[in-house]
Amino acid sequence: MSENLTEIFKYIMHGVYIIGVASGDQKNAFTAAWVMQASFDPPLLVFSINPKNRSFNILKQGGICSINVLDCEQMELAEHFGHSCDTDKMTICKWQKAKTGAPILMDSLAYFDCEVSHYADAGDHQLVICRVVDAAILDGQGSPMCYNMTGDMDKSSEIFPEKL
Ligand SMILES: Cc1cc2nc3c(=O)[nH]c(=O)nc-3n(C[C@H](O)[C@H](O)[C@H](O)COP(=O)(O)O)c2cc1C
Repeated sequence: MSENLTEIFKYIMHGVYIIGVASGDQKNAFTAAWVMQASFDPPLLVFSINPKNRSFNILKQGGICSINVLDCEQMELAEHFGHSCDTDKMTICKWQKAKTGAPILMDSLAYFDCEVSHYADAGDHQLVICRVVDAAILDGQGSPMCYNMTGDMDKSSEIFPEKL
């Protein structure tokens, strides 16, 4: 059963998001699928981040982030922000500072501007529980991208353990 774990996990529905982080002059953004709402009151979102991501240290220092919803046509952005880069990978699109100071992707369908509330250990990732302080729809006509449309873009087939 475990040999197709990557494919089976693709049955769990996720959207695809660009998470923007900032601390002082430093900023970065990365593609993320493991994002969900965690509370109505206060409004909380949670996402799971690999601490090896460059964005992680900036997030820890700055304590703020934006969660930007990608349209199903924005595969190139998902791919671009799904890789670490030695140069500034944010120059290819338009960004604006949110209320918290986190960078908002102006070409996204909608964004959430967040302050980090706390972290929780989750295996090889960290769960980031964030309080939403502002949010807006930027394009009400599009359809959000689904994680299972991205195939093996995140190379998860190479990451899963061979046996459960
Ligand atoms: C479709 C897709 C979904 C991804 N989901 C996540 C995720 O939920 N959490 C995470 O930490 N990385 C996720 N990644 C991997 C990061 O985007 C990738 O490690 C990226 O290089 C991190 O960028 P950074 O090192 O500039 O921070 C995903 C990548 C893709 C392509």
